[in-house]
Amino acid sequence: MATKTIDAAAAGTWKLGDLTVNRLGFGAMRLTGSAAFDPSTPSSDRERSIGVLRRAVELGVNHIDTAAFYFSRLRSANELINRALAPYSDDLVIVTKVGPGRDASGAWLPWATPEQLRGQVEENLRQLGRDHLDVVNLRLNGPGSLAEHFGALAELRDAGLIRHLGLSNITPEHLAEAQAIAPVVCVQNRYGLDSRRTGSDEVLRLCGEQGIAFVPFFAIAGEGREGGAGQGGGTESDAVLAVARAHGVTSAQVRLAWTLQQGEHVLAIPGTGNPDHLVENVDAGALRLTDEEMELLLS
Ligand SMILES: NC(=O)c1ccc[n+]([C@@H]2O[C@H](COP(=O)([O-])OP(=O)(O)OC[C@H]3O[C@@H](n4cnc5c(N)ncnc54)[C@H](OP(=O)(O)O)[C@@H]3O)[C@@H](O)[C@H]2O)c1
Repeated sequence: MATKTIDAAAAGTWKLGDLTVNRLGFGAMRLTGSAAFDPSTPSSDRERSIGVLRRAVELGVNHIDTAAFYFSRLRSANELINRALAPYSDDLVIVTKVGPGRDASGAWLPWATPEQLRGQVEENLRQLGRDHLDVVNLRLNGPGSLAEHFGALAELRDAGLIRHLGLSNITPEHLAEAQAIAPVVCVQNRYGLDSRRTGSDEVLRLCGEQGIAFVPFFAIAGEGREGGAGQGGGTESDAVLAVARAHGVTSAQVRLAWTLQQGEHVLAIPGTGNPDHLVENVDAGALRLTDEEMELLLS
């Protein structure tokens, strides 16, 4: 019997500037422990997390999302990536984000000033063991001008510390403001089957028009599902369950397929520290939902 091939390339590719990535990528936030933002919860098993990263790359994942502020008491996502994947292959694209920061105890710091962004970029460089970052997203914390912060990152890009710039948690106005300063290659906003937000639909559309990748977070976790569907983090809708049954797949896979079918420019970065979930998530890149199913899911 032929073995089924599971490959992140099944969903096709997209370009982040001059860097080509498979549309099915990986989010590193869950590698440090399921509640990476709470330093009082247990840290993940180190070897298991390293194994997940290596398996992701074996399955064709070449787009990994991370941040220096993804750490639990004993684990750092960037350090795990470095340990698992360095020396990095040429086709691996690591995307990180700056703006937010945490002190050594895990407590959140005030949002960075433009002058502090260089230190955050250098922190990522040290932890990842690189001398330039492929893509850096400016992660906003609310409305207001991004000009000074994005301008500071554009200077770091000109200085060769960063190859491409992106944005996160933004409005359409932010996108226009940033594009006037330097090219934006990707936008990371919260977006999923039941967590679409006024504004993010518009941002998704604008990104498509301008050839910018739209990279949603919480595509699986969704509303009230911080722990992931089926993990006690909320009940799944009848529509998702029906579509999952029809394809013989899980509800998480339906959510990922729905996300990828929002547009060719939409990339997925599902986050998991579980090797079985990783395989399911990559496999979801090959799942195609019918128009009727897409409609049913929104009903
Ligand atoms: N820009 C931003 O502001 C921002 C904010 C948040 C996150 N992010 C990025 O986006 C990525 C995705 O977000 P996320 O990790 O929070 O949410 P997600 O990918 O939507 O969902 C992750 C949750 O779902 C579970 N899960 C994953 N695969 C599963 C599967 N096949 N079956 C059942 N449950 C599954 C995970 O638990 P297990 O570990 O047990 O699988 C985890 O609890 C993050 O990793 C991070 O890189 C960016």
